[in-house]
Amino acid sequence: MPVPPPIAMLAELTHRCPLSCPYCSNPLELAAKAQELPTQTWIDAFDQAAALGVLQLHLSGGEPAARQDLVELVAGARAAGLYTNLITSGLGLTQARLEALSEAGLDHIQLSLQGTDAEMADRIGGMKGAFARKMKLAQWVSEIGFPLTLNVVLHRQNLHQLPRALEMAQEMGARRIEVATVQFHGWAMQNRNALMPSKAQADEAAALVAQARQNLKGRLVIDFVPADYHEDYPKRCMGGWGSSGLNIAPDGTVLPCHAAQTIPHLRFPNLREQSLSEIWYHSSGFNAYRGDDWMQEPCRSCALKTKDFGGCRCQALAITGDAAATDPTCIKSPAHQKLQAMADQFAGTEHAPLVMRENA
Ligand code: SF4
Ligand code: FES
Repeated sequence: MPVPPPIAMLAELTHRCPLSCPYCSNPLELAAKAQELPTQTWIDAFDQAAALGVLQLHLSGGEPAARQDLVELVAGARAAGLYTNLITSGLGLTQARLEALSEAGLDHIQLSLQGTDAEMADRIGGMKGAFARKMKLAQWVSEIGFPLTLNVVLHRQNLHQLPRALEMAQEMGARRIEVATVQFHGWAMQNRNALMPSKAQADEAAALVAQARQNLKGRLVIDFVPADYHEDYPKRCMGGWGSSGLNIAPDGTVLPCHAAQTIPHLRFPNLREQSLSEIWYHSSGFNAYRGDDWMQEPCRSCALKTKDFGGCRCQALAITGDAAATDPTCIKSPAHQKLQAMADQFAGTEHAPLVMRENA
């Protein structure tokens, strides 16, 4: 099967961030400022990505606004012809800087919310005053006229705020809200006791989203990532390994997903040493889980394997110790019952302290 070109690229410009969310998807070993790619190397990467077929560029972090050259990077992405989305906590963006980003060609903003009030948002984000600054940013975004997506990560401590989050998205004039139940990679793995929702909470969130999708049809698009420890079928992680998207870490390591470096036997090249095209088509890391030759039973003979590609490789590794195993979210996985028992145990833990993300 020929390998299709990627259509989306996530550029993690930096791991630096003023917040310290306990579910951050950044790796436990954060890249220091001195390891970050310089401006021109990023701009070259944007040119290479566009030539490779990438259409959408997501600028992320850490907090991408921590990069002083953010406006220059956006201008470079625009010159490469990429649709450019800034994924931000909102901290570090002034009105003047937002206007400069607009002039440089930024197409879209995705604002993260750690809670729907200052008490929750500031506690989960680990920064007093952060919520108020986010609300200010939302106002400027609306005044400038950026298309906005609100991104809310939900877990046991804030799932009850989902209805208010949906209201806030509408009040802010967002066209889309991403309601993501926390995924257990990166820092979240250390916080499963504190963040795991109960099965009842997970079911209630799914029902609320289904109802809201009907009520808000044509007004607000709702993307929903369910609590997969409580699900019976896995998500199509990254749309399939190495099939439609790639991530670049702050130091230039090119990855099929944000957690790929947790798979110890894989090696991922750096774009300081190889072209993006070589890495995408020919690196062993990207080719490791393409197609279905690598699959074991029950995936190998399952009719759904072309839809979900056996689920998430990083989760398979984290729970079963084998990255080529069936994602234990799947009801057919031998580890499925173990996963659900773990979920119930984590969800039933009282008074688990949060382990906050450290800074780079
Ligand atoms: Fe998907 Fe594998 Fe489960 Fe089939 S057995 S549904 S391919 S994870
Ligand atoms: Fe790596 Fe799902 S996070 S494959």
